[in-house]
Amino acid sequence: MMDAQALYEMALQATENSYAPYSHFRVGAALLCEDGSVFLGTNVENRSYGLTICAERSAVVSAIAAGKRRFTAVAIATPDAEGPVGPCGACRQVLSEFMEGGSLVVFGHRKEELITTTIGALLPQDSLHELREKRK
Ligand code: THU
Repeated sequence: MMDAQALYEMALQATENSYAPYSHFRVGAALLCEDGSVFLGTNVENRSYGLTICAERSAVVSAIAAGKRRFTAVAIATPDAEGPVGPCGACRQVLSEFMEGGSLVVFGHRKEELITTTIGALLPQDSLHELREKRK
């Protein structure tokens, strides 16, 4: 499997395409699929602020549209932050639809200070997990 550092570098690269004229907070995501392919996402803001799409969900949508269904890791880069920023609650839920509990989530504002955890740790007591299993 691709190492966390390499996946993070791809997430960082994705921040170059961030559309964040309102917050000036660039976010990039790199999603590693079961077959080894990687899909990138970035945040896409809107003048109607609530319509903003996070980097993580933008990567998920891109991968799903390309026919992927299972992700083994995601890296999130937030170079404008002063410390590591984990995925928001909505993105944890959406990522968990296509990841196992033990799948890796790597995030950081700089590559020297990455946090590595799992989607299960970020979204504990997932009461809808059984419902998800029925989708197969
Ligand atoms: N953002 C993400 O892209 N992912 C997160 O997990 C946190 C927040 C974006 C949304 C908005 O464009 C900017 O960061 C500030 O909230």
